Amino acid sequence: RRLLNKQLAGDQVLVVSNREPYIHVKADQGTVVHRPASGLVTAVEPVMRACSGTWIAHGSGSADRETVDRDDRVGVPPQKPEYNLRRIWLTAEEEQGYYYGFANEGFWPLCHNAHVRPIFRSSDWQQYRKINQRFADAVVKEARTDDPVVLVQDYHFALLPKMIRQRLPKATIITFWHIPWPNPESFGICPWREELLQGMLGSTILGFHTPFHCKNFLETVDRYLETRIEHESSTIFHGGQLTMVENYPISIQWPPEWQGTLPPVEQTRAEILAELGLPDDHLLGIGVDRMDYTKGILERFSAVERMLEQHPELVGRFSFIQIAAPSRSVLEEYHAFEQRVHRLTERINQRFPGAVILKAEHHEPDQVNRYYRASDVCMVTSLHDGMNLVAKEFVAARDDERGVLVLSQFTGAANELHEALVVNPYHVEQTAEALYQGLTMPEYEQRERMRSMRALVQDFNVYRWAGRMLLDAARVRQREKLAARIG
Ligand code: G6P
Repeated sequence: RRLLNKQLAGDQVLVVSNREPYIHVKADQGTVVHRPASGLVTAVEPVMRACSGTWIAHGSGSADRETVDRDDRVGVPPQKPEYNLRRIWLTAEEEQGYYYGFANEGFWPLCHNAHVRPIFRSSDWQQYRKINQRFADAVVKEARTDDPVVLVQDYHFALLPKMIRQRLPKATIITFWHIPWPNPESFGICPWREELLQGMLGSTILGFHTPFHCKNFLETVDRYLETRIEHESSTIFHGGQLTMVENYPISIQWPPEWQGTLPPVEQTRAEILAELGLPDDHLLGIGVDRMDYTKGILERFSAVERMLEQHPELVGRFSFIQIAAPSRSVLEEYHAFEQRVHRLTERINQRFPGAVILKAEHHEPDQVNRYYRASDVCMVTSLHDGMNLVAKEFVAARDDERGVLVLSQFTGAANELHEALVVNPYHVEQTAEALYQGLTMPEYEQRERMRSMRALVQDFNVYRWAGRMLLDAARVRQREKLAARIG
């Protein structure tokens, strides 16, 4: 945190993301504030609190829409403002084309290897472009100097870096890609591939979670654009702009917000078992995701079923709790997926009553944390995932140094959390075996594994993630200033 403040001394920081950190929803009892289920928000929010700038996001709550004008600005967090949030309101048509259409039916399946076919419509693409332009206008309007530090977040804004660069040539634009980057063949099916790549290359720094995603990006650029790439320094020279491509594995806040304020793990566990009407010695597994086809929820449930088939002594003694926050549910693919999850849950529970407890609704972070703390095993079985912060949140929640993490090898987190039980989620037997191993692991081994994962997350926390990017940005800024003086 201190390093961050030092890096930013005097600089204005603007963050742009689609998702806003607090959603104000109209309810019977008045306005309710939700923290959205989003890895991006989990990571960027504490950074923003530390740098106190302005966060520009798509306004998505129902409560403020009618009471604020289109260019509103509010202080957040609501109880004790530490930075400004400027919300951009979109019409239903704009949201449909830019967010649901191009970003989530096109880009999302394009970048995730989950075997869901991307849909590319020209009308969505037009909206995507238009809304990127709208956010660029907002950045320019918010900029107090001609060289702000702009942190552009994710696949909703691939065109934004270039649009900002054209109007604020001296800005330091750091773009972070929160999802995987595919190989050139996969990316190449996108009808607007060149324009998207050119848009991203307006960035000063382009960050991905893993060296592998960086490599895929460099190869994609090499395949489709005329550029000069220096592989040693991982830089791309294109249209007079130098872009540094680097991996910055994202993380979570440390110490966690709730540190020292929660009841002991044993108490939480007893409370949760009582709430669920289960006996004291019942074993619990936990999964926490958005209801998304990339998360491997069906594969996970199949592994639970297989584990119970192979270890009948655990039937009636183990339940798997799945928290699945509703997500993008107006899209057909998501709707169909949700139905499949419900059907599989029913089928498994008919065979093994109480084996899967599906909680398909939004849970606030403190509720999620109670489940992490009460469980014996946490399963993260994404088919493909940029990082996956649930894995790191689970580790952070276990200050008792107990609990086992089963982790998909297709997450960025698997590059760092080597003491997890790493699985291929497509391999049902292997995942089932890891779950069983987790449930029967001796305490000393749990402690050893958890201790070293906690040390890693503590060390490589989200301030380190942002600090490294800003340090690299500071170096580039310095170099550019010197070059301008010499020139
Ligand atoms: C992923 C994306 C984020 C997104 C989050 C939640 O983590 O990388 O950009 O905010 O999912 O999805 P949503 O569509 O609800 O914002």
